[in-house]
Amino acid sequence: MGSGIAETAAVSGFEVVLRSRNQATADATLAAIEKSLNRQVEKGKRTEAERDAALARVTATSELSMLRDVDLVIESVVEDLAVKKELFNELDRITDDRTILATNTSTLPVVELAMQTGRPERVCGVHFFNPAPVMELVELVRPLTASDETIAAVRQFAESCGKSPVEVKDQAGFIVNALLFPYLNNAVRLYEQGVASIEDIDTAMKGGCGFPMGPFALLDLVGLDTSLAILDALYAEFRDPNYAAVPLMRRMVAAGETKIRLLIRKMQNCFKMQFQAQNL
Ligand code: CAA
Repeated sequence: MGSGIAETAAVSGFEVVLRSRNQATADATLAAIEKSLNRQVEKGKRTEAERDAALARVTATSELSMLRDVDLVIESVVEDLAVKKELFNELDRITDDRTILATNTSTLPVVELAMQTGRPERVCGVHFFNPAPVMELVELVRPLTASDETIAAVRQFAESCGKSPVEVKDQAGFIVNALLFPYLNNAVRLYEQGVASIEDIDTAMKGGCGFPMGPFALLDLVGLDTSLAILDALYAEFRDPNYAAVPLMRRMVAAGETKIRLLIRKMQNCFKMQFQAQNL
């Protein structure tokens, strides 16, 4: 998400500091932005001069201190509350008092991040959707502690990026994920029950509901590990069985796989090999 958000801000004319854990991942993220912009140039959607100007606005670094003077920080690290809390603590120490600290979390309680700082009124959520340069929506998440000025400033930023923001209370899943993830979870359940193949479930939801992607293609876009983290956060908040991740999803993440379709292919190959070994 970080690269998509940085690309969105840079093409909208904002100076961007893209900070990653080390210089190699920061450079790789910048390279991903360049690749995406090159594709747009090839398609005639953007000129070479626009691409070069956008790239020139991005500084890729591993130094957190480079964020000292920015107006807005958008954190998009792993969906782990402890990791995010530690980072907000550090960001509060490093950045100017006027800087707004926003999180791109999908489900975690924004108020807990706000309370890690000495400026809870200047902390909120700004939730982009995958792929960030394409998807129009941004959820502006208002924790109990945020000021009207903070929400207005972040709304203005999102609108300047060409997005259509909606405001939502700081409740797990906000609007989109609270509705989307029971659906994605139930798609895995349907597959687990042997009702239909992954391909047919995807085809059915595209053809039957007009969705641009089927649930499995979407799970792969979001990543299984992130999807599981979102379901776990929803379940922790509401204790609603609709949000309890189906066992297969948890096992797949435990198997170290972030793409469901890749894992299924590997499993099929593995069964094929076993059958071949047994001459079946
Ligand atoms: N980065 C930048 N641009 C991208 C892109 C990416 N990763 N992927 C696709 N695009 C662009 C393409 O370049 C293309 O642009 P043009 O129309 O200007 O040529 C446009 O998007 C359409 O792409 P394609 O023609 O290649 O493919 P498509 O028509 O199938 O669209 C899609 C791809 C936009 C991803 C579409 O399938 C879609 O909208 N899928 C649903 C995505 C969705 O539901 N996202 C929300 C996920 S949930 C989430 O993010 C929340 C969370 O907290 C986890």
